[in-house]
Amino acid sequence: MKDLIATSIKYQQGALSILDQHQLPHQEQWLPCDSTETMIAMIKQLQIRGAPLIGIGASLLLAHLAEQGVSTTTLRTEAERLRATRPTAVNLMNCLDRMLATLDNEGPAALPRCAEQLFHEDVTLCNRIATAGAALIEDGANILTHCNTGSLATAGVGTAIGVIGAVKQQGKALHVWVDETRPLLQGGRLTTWEMDRLGVPHTLICDNMAALLMAQGKVDVILVGADRIAANGDFANKVGTYSLAVVAQYHNVPFYVVAPYTTVDANCPDGSAIPIEQRNPAEVQGVSGSFGEINWAPDNTPVYNPAFDVTPAKLVSGWILDTGVYRPEQIAAGALKNL
Ligand code: MRU
Repeated sequence: MKDLIATSIKYQQGALSILDQHQLPHQEQWLPCDSTETMIAMIKQLQIRGAPLIGIGASLLLAHLAEQGVSTTTLRTEAERLRATRPTAVNLMNCLDRMLATLDNEGPAALPRCAEQLFHEDVTLCNRIATAGAALIEDGANILTHCNTGSLATAGVGTAIGVIGAVKQQGKALHVWVDETRPLLQGGRLTTWEMDRLGVPHTLICDNMAALLMAQGKVDVILVGADRIAANGDFANKVGTYSLAVVAQYHNVPFYVVAPYTTVDANCPDGSAIPIEQRNPAEVQGVSGSFGEINWAPDNTPVYNPAFDVTPAKLVSGWILDTGVYRPEQIAAGALKNL
């Protein structure tokens, strides 16, 4: 495979490595990833994360195994093990389906080319999304975003953060409110790191401050990513997205979901059919990371920890995809069914 370099994944001189997102923003440490076991652990622990990037990472690992002469039967088994790591982001399933179809039709030697295509395609999709989305954002906008949707979550510039970067590049003034994104703090740790690198003025807030800011008229537009968009426009994204959409509608703040077509699941009729990942109670009982572990809840406190929630289409002002911006009437007319 040719060398492939992105912000948080790289394939260089035959070796795959991952920028460990656990250790960001305090340390930028690249970890080698040369086995299915390692990739599975890294995806489950969110050392590599974000809907598009976990699909690319799993595909690059399969391609790497194919290059090492792993048999077709084993490659199929490994693909299914990778598919089972996280259930919500359909990009993972889509990438693995493309890899498996290539394996069936052309054999293992074709997997590196397929993985490279998936990588380059994601870069292109991000650029198209950024262009489509930036056109909607006015000079001087205060944008609010949730979780992390940037170059740490894709092979390219990102989705919602890709739009933010393009707005900045166009020379428009902007300011971003960054939701910290409990329980795993993707906003507080990762989006802040990306805003800093992009030179975008930003302010970190706790998730429960967003309503107050909207009531004060300090949010002009909300941009969020997605892990799976159903055919009717409902979508799953990081838990906390749904409450943002409810509050945005109450305050007449435009609310956009930003994603590539690879996040659309036309076989999923509506949000109720999207599988939602349940995660370890320890994530809610405290925090852990490069800064150590802190548990504030009594041991064995019962916890509910869904990683994602579903936002109904009726709360969405527009769907910013690589193919353009879709309004509610287009979505209701079935625009997502034949992308
Ligand atoms: O659990 P995570 O950190 O993988 O969740 C990520 C999100 O919810 C993102 O908003 C989504 O994957 C889109 S990333 C372009």
